Amino acid sequence: MFQATTYSDDRVKSYELLIKQLDALTDGEKDEVAILSNASALLNQFLKEVNWVGFYVWKDNELVLGPFQGLPACIRIGFGKGVCGTAVKEKQTQRIADVHQFPGHIACDSASQSEIVVPIIINDKVYGVLDIDSPIKNRFDEIDQTYLEKFVTTLEKHLQ
Ligand code: SME
Repeated sequence: MFQATTYSDDRVKSYELLIKQLDALTDGEKDEVAILSNASALLNQFLKEVNWVGFYVWKDNELVLGPFQGLPACIRIGFGKGVCGTAVKEKQTQRIADVHQFPGHIACDSASQSEIVVPIIINDKVYGVLDIDSPIKNRFDEIDQTYLEKFVTTLEKHLQ
């Protein structure tokens, strides 16, 4: 049974443990909904000061809501729309210090102030995105970006 983990105060060490936990939790599992569900739950118990964490999956030329933790969210996001659609278009992480300054930001939860979206790319094709929102501005720094990208790299390995 999984119990909430007490992570180290060292952020790098705690992110490294998180990624090992993801690897262990998804080992040998092929069901995508199960993998993404546990990945969102794992991140939700790890990250402080976040109000939404989850996935959108690329289907028929748009992003469709996948497993997540948080308030109900908009279901479909088009290519290049909002922060998530921009991450798909650019195939690059979007780290947004203040979502109110991002043209076209889609406000699913009015509490959201900052956000990071990491594209999930498998065999050069966008599979979907990891989207994390925070109720405080400037929540995500370079360490978060580096390790959330490593988290997604581990997920990509399990989703192949
Ligand atoms: N903020 C996103 C929309 C999804 S919600 O945050 C869950 C965006 O602008 O792409």
